Amino acid sequence: MLIQENISLKKYNTFGIDAYAAYFSTFRTLDELNELLEYKKLPTSKLQLPTLILGGGSNILFTQNFNGIVLKNELKGIEKVKEDNEFVYVKAGAGVNWHQFVVFCIDNNWAGVENLSLIPGNVGASPMQNIGAYGVEIKDVFYELEAFHLAEKKIVRFGLNECAFGYRESVFKRKHRGEFVIINVTYKLRKDPIYNTSYGAIEQELEKMGVKALSIKAISDAVINIRSSKLPNPAEIGNAGSFFKNPEILSDQFTILNAQYPNIVGYKLDNGNVKLAAGWLIEQCGWKGFRKGDAGCHAKQALVLVNYGNATGKEIYSLSGEIIASVKEKFGVELEREVNII
Ligand code: FAD
Ligand code: EPU
Repeated sequence: MLIQENISLKKYNTFGIDAYAAYFSTFRTLDELNELLEYKKLPTSKLQLPTLILGGGSNILFTQNFNGIVLKNELKGIEKVKEDNEFVYVKAGAGVNWHQFVVFCIDNNWAGVENLSLIPGNVGASPMQNIGAYGVEIKDVFYELEAFHLAEKKIVRFGLNECAFGYRESVFKRKHRGEFVIINVTYKLRKDPIYNTSYGAIEQELEKMGVKALSIKAISDAVINIRSSKLPNPAEIGNAGSFFKNPEILSDQFTILNAQYPNIVGYKLDNGNVKLAAGWLIEQCGWKGFRKGDAGCHAKQALVLVNYGNATGKEIYSLSGEIIASVKEKFGVELEREVNII
């Protein structure tokens, strides 16, 4: 186990930002994590440095160097822990790549995560912001997780209710931010699938693919096709997916906006409010395809900010601020950043 000093994080974040970490290490077991937390190998003057747990780095924007220790989680392993008539319970190490986990489930005919195909990052971050796509969120398949309390050095179990999942929210993102390392997650997957094809363009895509008999593999392939057609591949253009959340507004405000902008895209929520498509708002403000230096707004999906090569985190952040201000001015709607800003 090696602690490296003054390491570029460029290859560890999908935005490709060239920020530096004062210290960097990886852990593959809990023992290794414990050892690192004691900072045994660091000079005593650095004992109080902050810690950042990193997964795939696909939901993070470094706006400055990190003057602390970055610990990259590489806890692996997938195992079926139990089953009943309806479900299998599958535990995955936090460092397992998310899409590889999805593929593993599909190969075993365990249903529930197929709509979440091709989301970058690792299992450990999936509950952080309750990842979601195409009508499914982690909360729909979540059973429990184990997390290591950094200060108290003990393992704590979180069931569904303790996680307080919301739209791109959980206790780990706010209330307990930075307190825990999620070490494994157990998902509850169906033996007999309940197909979810109602969201977005899934049905059209299945038709285009000529699918006759529906399967979780077919849904996964359809989702992969749709995602690949509009989201930039981080291996080619740096990005962290949607930079902002889709904002929720009161239905009265929506009625007023709808009268002024008949094409505005909004979805009615169960609580009576309306969720607006932030991509539409941003596009209407003229940002889609915008580029200043190497920082830009993606030409096929305005909700995604991109780094064409050498943008700094500050440049991306500053662009996001300009976008927030212009959407606020034109529509009176406040966008909130979804990406974790460091
Ligand atoms: P990281 O970026 O490494 O970390 C994110 C946050 O979680 C950080 O605050 C980090 O400290 C913390 N963290 C990470 N691992 C742990 C751990 N084990 N314990 C405690 N804290 C931890 N997201 C969606 O929800 N839906 C999408 O459809 C989607 N599409 C995307 C498409 C693209 C092209 C990209 C680049 C991103 C997309 N995302 C999407 C965002 C991203 O993939 C998810 O948020 C993903 O879960 C992040 O995982 P990660 O391992 O890369 O997390
Ligand atoms: N739209 C535009 N212009 C754009 C982009 C979108 O007008 O440039 C409008 C279109 O009307 C489109 C609608 O917005 O139909 C919705 O767009 P899309 O289906 O691409 O989804 P999204 O709302 O922009 C959300 C999630 C994505 C997730 C997709 C699919 C958030 C913040 N983003 O995007 O998650 O993959 O739905 O479910 O909720 C992420 O979190 O990083 C992410 C990519």
